[in-house]
Amino acid sequence: MIMRHKIIDGKAISKQIRTELKQQTETFHSETGVLPGLAFILVGENPASQVYVKMKGKACAEVGFHSVTKVLPADISQQELVKLIDAFNNDPKIHGILTQLPLPDHIDEAAVIESIDPNKDVDGFHPINVGKLLIGLKTFRPCTPAGIQELLIRSNIDPAGKHVVVVGRSNIVGKPIANILVQKQKWANAVVTICHTGARDLLYYTKQADIVIAAVGRAEVITGDMLKEGAVVIDVGVNRIDDPGSEKGYKLVGDVHFASAVNVASAITPVPGGVGPMTIAMLLANTLQAAREQIVG
Ligand code: GUN
Repeated sequence: MIMRHKIIDGKAISKQIRTELKQQTETFHSETGVLPGLAFILVGENPASQVYVKMKGKACAEVGFHSVTKVLPADISQQELVKLIDAFNNDPKIHGILTQLPLPDHIDEAAVIESIDPNKDVDGFHPINVGKLLIGLKTFRPCTPAGIQELLIRSNIDPAGKHVVVVGRSNIVGKPIANILVQKQKWANAVVTICHTGARDLLYYTKQADIVIAAVGRAEVITGDMLKEGAVVIDVGVNRIDDPGSEKGYKLVGDVHFASAVNVASAITPVPGGVGPMTIAMLLANTLQAAREQIVG
């Protein structure tokens, strides 16, 4: 039995993956003469989005990718945005395109996602890639769900045969992580339940879970008393709550109430330092995969 720590250290696991990717990028570059290229599009001035795009750009530089960031004004027309995406679709130096979400209300998010070349859709949000994921074909797995599966793998927690309860049904996390873990594949093959705001009795489901994946987007709503003894807890939430004592005046907490859950769980991800860093690592992995497929075939 491999000993593992109760607190799953996403920061350390992400660092390990990025070290591996840096090496793979060097090999790819020496074999093909090509650097994996990723284009970021940021519309408007959402502070969280600005932070995320900056962190992603820095991560690209660290593994030796080529990256470009285009910042567009919040009032840009959808047509202009799609034109820019199309330029990246046709740019041979760019293998992955990421339009940071959410987009301003006047822009149809679905239409923008569909304008990205599915072969460059490193977010795995294009309907073609969503469909491939659902039927178990190779595709780009959305970065946060892929990061969750990778955390489980590298912590030697095999979801096969276990009851995974996903709380949240977003297209970015809830639905795709359920789709990934339900597949009859290695490090998957779980029995999956998806809970959401329509659930009459959330506790009924979470109490039965061997693995709880919390992707609700509300601070500390999953508490220790809602968990089965020994459950594995994956916390996807990043919520700002007031913290008058701190310099910034706020602190980040997850969707899980960590202090009560940690006593019940056999393994748990912290916030920050759990799932978050994995999202970026998987974005890099998807971009290297995209470059490989476009250059080598
Ligand atoms: N906004 C929040 N998460 C994500 C993500 O994984 N990708 C993009 N493009 N936008 C996001």
